[in-house]
Amino acid sequence: MLPTFVFQHMNPPHPIQPELPILHVLVVDEDEVARSACLAIARNLGYKAEEVPHLGQVRSTLARFPTDILLVDISSREEGVLQAVAEVHALFPRVAIIAMAPVDSASAALSAMHCGAVDYLNKPFTLDELASSLERISVSHVINSETRKLRERLKLQDGLGQMIGRSPQMEKLYRMLAKVAQSKHPVLILGESGTGKELVARTLHAFGPSPDKPFLPVDCGSLVPTLVESELFGYVKGAFTGANHAKDGLLVSAGTGTVFLDEIGELTLDLQAKLLRALQEKEVRPVGSNTRIPIRARIVTATNRDLATMVERGGFRKDLYYRLNVVNLRLPALRDRKEDIPLLVAHFLNKIHREHPGRFSIHDDALRLMMGYDWPGNVRELENAIEHGVTMASGGEVQIGNLPTGLQDLALSYLHKAMSDGRKVEAASSTTAVVPLAVRERVAIFEALRITNGDKLKAADLLGIGKTTLYRKLKEYEAADAKQMN
Ligand SMILES: Nc1ncnc2c1ncn2[C@@H]1O[C@H](COP(=O)(O)OP(=O)(O)OP(=O)(O)O)[C@@H](O)[C@H]1O
Ligand SMILES: [Mg+2]
Repeated sequence: MLPTFVFQHMNPPHPIQPELPILHVLVVDEDEVARSACLAIARNLGYKAEEVPHLGQVRSTLARFPTDILLVDISSREEGVLQAVAEVHALFPRVAIIAMAPVDSASAALSAMHCGAVDYLNKPFTLDELASSLERISVSHVINSETRKLRERLKLQDGLGQMIGRSPQMEKLYRMLAKVAQSKHPVLILGESGTGKELVARTLHAFGPSPDKPFLPVDCGSLVPTLVESELFGYVKGAFTGANHAKDGLLVSAGTGTVFLDEIGELTLDLQAKLLRALQEKEVRPVGSNTRIPIRARIVTATNRDLATMVERGGFRKDLYYRLNVVNLRLPALRDRKEDIPLLVAHFLNKIHREHPGRFSIHDDALRLMMGYDWPGNVRELENAIEHGVTMASGGEVQIGNLPTGLQDLALSYLHKAMSDGRKVEAASSTTAVVPLAVRERVAIFEALRITNGDKLKAADLLGIGKTTLYRKLKEYEAADAKQMN
């Protein structure tokens, strides 16, 4: 029988969630009955627990018992007691302190918090109150230790998981990502095209609580609305033509995994309403059915559109926006973190090396050129540029002349500028100065078209080539540009 002055009433103990680690609890209370009761309860809940009667014994116990949570009675609230708690907090900052005291003073909680306690229990407290205080701390313990592990990993690596970049903007993003990965809150990922939104979504999943569960992406931009609906919510047999059998929606089949709704800004208003209902009620109704099925998946969304403006203009529901935007991660454009370009280039060259025979490097001038470029297509464009460079390179080194035309045009503009500034272009100080003939030709053609206001016949005349040659060249450029965009 437990003493009533500790626990007002008893409910059956609910053990800590199995996915949480087993934490060590040290109970400190001069009152033996209360102390033993807390000890019994903590053990019953699945914690490893020990007890000592006096605060004076805490420091020596902490040295041998790897304590995570200190459950300490501060009833007397004498200066000595509070001072001792504050000392423990200063010496062992990772130990979470829960203070307990009778309900006789409103200032008790305040004193406890001043001494570093993270939680406070009024005596007598219920078993549920003790259990939830311990559980809250267990959850934040997991989040903190994951964040610590991530920080340590970051010190050694060029980025986080598959994400490369050590610029301050990326480091900030990793810190946010580590904080939110362990929670189940919806996350909205924002950023220009090619900045790595899908990669962030995958990383969130990989560092989240259920990495072994499915990660299911849905591209709301490329699917017709009816298909998005049946994909997300599922359908019953006969719900529409071709529905020959019932199918679970992704929100259900993901289980406790992640559903990644890409291009969420493209969702129709009708589907926005349905998604909102599903998120609010945590259940879905498959197409053609009246039955509701509970959902537990984490929702991660992404867009390169300005959702806030869409909300203002009525293109996106405000209530859904707030629900999805509990946490948002904004990816920087590559032009705003150019210091990451060399790391990214090395990463993509290594990736090619792992997938194909042969090792490639990059010429310094080509890398310098890449640092000067603005990368409107962001990391995706950089990855394509490296692949293009490796394909075109004849030796093991990617040179300026092997890079895509956008970059070569930039090289040419540097050359023009250097020449018009009257600077001597040092021949081989740099291959930046040597512009491949193909590039000169392309620039000449576009210049001629500009001068003739797009009149191809006149342009061909100016260039001294036949109009068929001009047409062929333009077609080639078009095909090359289209390839580059993909
Ligand atoms: N920080 C990064 N480190 C390594 N690779 C990256 C990084 N960011 C993006 N990538 C790579 O760039 C490509 C584009 O990334 P991703 O598809 O995640 O971009 P996105 O923002 O979703 O683009 P879009 O808006 O066009 O869908 C992928 O191949 C991805 O692996
Ligand atoms: Mg994407």
